[in-house]
Amino acid sequence: MSIHNLPRTYQNTWPITTSEGKLRLKIPASSISERGLKVTPVLVNGHSPFGAEIEGIDWSRPIPEGLVNELVQLQDKYAVLIFRNTGLDNARHIAFAQQLGKDLEVNPFFFGRENDRIGEPFLWDVGNINRDGTTVQPGQRRWEHSKGNALWHTDSSFHKPRAKYSLLLSHGNPAKGGSWTHFADTRGAYAALPQDKKDELESLIVEHDLWHSRKLASPKAFKEPLCHERNLVPPVCHKLVQTAPSGNKTLYLAAHAKRIIGKSFEDSQELIWELISHCTQSQFVFSMEWLQGGDMVWWDNRQSMHRANPYTESMTARDVRRATVNDDGPFALGVPTPSM
Ligand SMILES: [Fe+2]
Repeated sequence: MSIHNLPRTYQNTWPITTSEGKLRLKIPASSISERGLKVTPVLVNGHSPFGAEIEGIDWSRPIPEGLVNELVQLQDKYAVLIFRNTGLDNARHIAFAQQLGKDLEVNPFFFGRENDRIGEPFLWDVGNINRDGTTVQPGQRRWEHSKGNALWHTDSSFHKPRAKYSLLLSHGNPAKGGSWTHFADTRGAYAALPQDKKDELESLIVEHDLWHSRKLASPKAFKEPLCHERNLVPPVCHKLVQTAPSGNKTLYLAAHAKRIIGKSFEDSQELIWELISHCTQSQFVFSMEWLQGGDMVWWDNRQSMHRANPYTESMTARDVRRATVNDDGPFALGVPTPSM
């Protein structure tokens, strides 16, 4: 397969049906009671459950430590937890994220702090609203930058330390026409690989580079990152096959994955996108619809991939803000970069 023909881009998934029924768009009605909470799993296949909607939390007050621990247990199991109508504001969003890890990733303010609408270093403005209230349009570097978010990825795999959790919270009304985030189960996808493929992948090391995914999605605007952009985010190496918090093995993959150590760029991209395609088959993927302000999704970047819908010129305001919890585990900083 030519690297130019690899399936990197995807159609918007609204309206909500596809001819192949390819995306799991609705959560089935079977809820269970787990750890004192109402848990509705999204995907349940042979290997492990993936994704769950959680009800029964009182978000109007600080979350007790005991409940935080229970939620982390559920997070390890399901990898993506969805909470509806939390009513959280910026401060409580950040406070909850800080209960989940020692450090939060600081927003690098790619477009300059003076252009940041929220101005809060612990929150990333990943919506489409300019500071003057208009929506982001083609021609803005931010528009081009956002295209990379529509590729399958894990957050901040290029960052030292990498991201453990992302907590994305919606404010206001969802974008008109539907607003979705899509998730892929990298644990289930790994388990489904044939043994000879698992053996081939076991010891591979991958270089992750933010500017690689930006260039894939927007080759003209990001032909070369700007000097300050490159200095802000140099590449990092990670093992491809890792043990997830659930205890299952998983593929640590993202559109940021640029090169497999010891392989040519072309061979690396072919294998990386073959694996991303494998992970994003219908049986491993579900799509979460943003229904109202206050909806929040919390995912584990170490055992899932996700992507956004790309912006369109006609879409209405989409106000979503992300808190990112730094990984504090043994692979937080990746592995030493072998000589290439
Ligand atoms: Fe993301």
